[in-house]
Amino acid sequence: MRPFCSSLPLITGMALYLISTYAFAIEGQSKPHHQTLSVASPNNEVILNFSDHDDLAQYSVTFNGKTVIGQSKLGFTFAKALPMYRDFRLSEVSRHSEDNVWEQPWGEQRLIRDHHNELVVKYMDMNNTNNIFYVRARVFNDGVGFRYEVPADGPRYITRELTEFNFLESHLATAYWIPGQGRERYEYLYRTTPLQQVEKAHTPFTVEYTDGTHVAIHEAALIDYSGMSIQRQLLGKFTAHLAPRADGVLVEKSGSFVTPWRTITMGDEAVDLVNSFMALNLNEPSKIKDTSWINPGKYIGIWWGMHIDKFTWGSGPKHGATTERTLAYMDFAAEHGFDGVLVEGWNVGWDGDWIANSEIFSFTETYPDFDINRVHEHSLRTGVKLIGHHETSGGISNYEAQMEDGFALYQKMGIEQIKTGYVAHGQNLKRRDDQGIMRYEFTDSQDVVNHFIHNVKTAAKYQLSINTHESVKDTGLRRTYPNWIARESARGQEYNSGWAPPNPPEHLPIMAFTRMLSGPMDFTPGIFDFDYKREHGGGPEWGDKPYTRPLSTLARQLAQYVVIYSPIQMAADLPENYLAKPEPFQFIKDVPTDWETSIALQGSVADYVVFARKEKAHRHYSGSDWYLGALTNEDERIINISLDFLDKGQRYEAQIYRDGDKVDWRTNPYDIIIEKKTVTQTDTMTIRLAAAGGVAVRFKQL
Ligand code: NOJ
Ligand code: CA
Repeated sequence: MRPFCSSLPLITGMALYLISTYAFAIEGQSKPHHQTLSVASPNNEVILNFSDHDDLAQYSVTFNGKTVIGQSKLGFTFAKALPMYRDFRLSEVSRHSEDNVWEQPWGEQRLIRDHHNELVVKYMDMNNTNNIFYVRARVFNDGVGFRYEVPADGPRYITRELTEFNFLESHLATAYWIPGQGRERYEYLYRTTPLQQVEKAHTPFTVEYTDGTHVAIHEAALIDYSGMSIQRQLLGKFTAHLAPRADGVLVEKSGSFVTPWRTITMGDEAVDLVNSFMALNLNEPSKIKDTSWINPGKYIGIWWGMHIDKFTWGSGPKHGATTERTLAYMDFAAEHGFDGVLVEGWNVGWDGDWIANSEIFSFTETYPDFDINRVHEHSLRTGVKLIGHHETSGGISNYEAQMEDGFALYQKMGIEQIKTGYVAHGQNLKRRDDQGIMRYEFTDSQDVVNHFIHNVKTAAKYQLSINTHESVKDTGLRRTYPNWIARESARGQEYNSGWAPPNPPEHLPIMAFTRMLSGPMDFTPGIFDFDYKREHGGGPEWGDKPYTRPLSTLARQLAQYVVIYSPIQMAADLPENYLAKPEPFQFIKDVPTDWETSIALQGSVADYVVFARKEKAHRHYSGSDWYLGALTNEDERIINISLDFLDKGQRYEAQIYRDGDKVDWRTNPYDIIIEKKTVTQTDTMTIRLAAAGGVAVRFKQL
């Protein structure tokens, strides 16, 4: 696949011209001058400088006059090709400015402004004028993105990408991060450490300076390349660390290639990172012309029951995915306005140690007690869709061999969405090579990156949307493939079910400023019963002690629907637990999942975050209501929110779901106050968030 190569012929033409101007420029000089080429953001606050000082290809970034990324190297080493390492000279290729607005088919915001200045530079090897690379850089008011564009004949085997991110004043900076390329993929608890104590970190990687400046490193448009972690070298200097392929090469390319964009988002405060759409702007427009079949929405599922040990995925007396239960769940969904019912464990392959059995999963054969045709008929009667499930436990080749059959079956059954899963350790995704030998790949190695895209592109042929669990990280590809409707790629609610230590209260106020910078997450909010009893814990690794309950108040479960953005949101608990608490359940029924506008209003990483979102006019939503969600870490706090985001001249009924006075997430998480107030844009709301608490508000336009 050569998605972005359209720009290469252009730059190759430019290159010929520039090779001659370069030669002319150095004529008569024994040593050419070093130079710096700069490009500023439209508001001039962000400046990216390229240089060839010390004969190295380098860049640096300033923000409001302060250097946020000091001199940082660029380049590559290859097997069987000249390194792009040192002795490089810089020249300018082209400049361009862009200011346009484009529309998302679904999203946290409908209209996105792409406003940037672009500079393309060339680095040429002083000793070999054929050894060149280009860097295409785009500078936005909220950060910079740059990618390599490398002309090449024949194969290229990347053995190192030299890109550095050199944070200055590293002794004064705090980092929020999870390990990169680890065994648990991206399902780690976040670390908050001095920047100088980071090791190998996953991206989005968020850094806070003492003056309040926040910077996040990530990437955009990860296609046919390996995912980037960053590894600290010394003080605040990091280098790109690409996940290797099973053969040890980092990335294999044939002919000219472009890399994903390396992105550096920045702002004066933490919420600026969240309010940035830079990564989406760096991705290509949708390759799917008609997106009318891609539907955001809400769903329930035969799911939590397995996680808390009430049901099993495998066959037997506790089998969750029975026809009867599915029909009953569909009735519940229809009555309460849900669009779909996810059913896990419907297909053959779950018996025994399913995590180790990836080679036997069938994607077409049902268990005898799951009658998919009856389910389909009931779906036609109720209007509730079955949501498909493809757990692969990391068996990529087994899945690829059956993928089209699995999709065809689901399409026939009227299904619109599939949740996929890759439960396997992060270096243990199984792919058979051309000779039939099993290879073990990283979640973010090049072949697996390509597998996920292949999955989504193939699904589009069957008008199916994909929600990938244990996925490679999001890099804004939902713009190009809008049927990639959500992912997990972090520690979700499932960790609160008892099989592992639960997510601490700070998890979400960190995730809002790290994981969530990359795109929507299928976190699966909405647990209403915190007193389930799981018989066993996580097994020998965690000790067999069952850990229980989300470390949360009930109001916080509602807040999650606004805070953790996803176009598809699950109501994760069992239907009976919603029926037992109809008043707070009303919020889940009301809240939309597709937005006209989203604003991160306030927040501080690992402490708290406040979002306001305006519903988008679609289906049964008029487009006039606003929603607010806020949640805090283990500290109680009072937040003051100006309602100036509301539409001018309108009155709203604020339907408030907040922590009760007696709430205590350890002993009494259920205490919730539900109240109504009339408000306008000129009002301010003062709300107490209890420890591990939150608030959810619907502003219903009057
Ligand atoms: C892991 C997913 O994250 C979870 O939601 C799912 O239930 C299990 N895999 C089984 O597929
Ligand atoms: Ca998972």
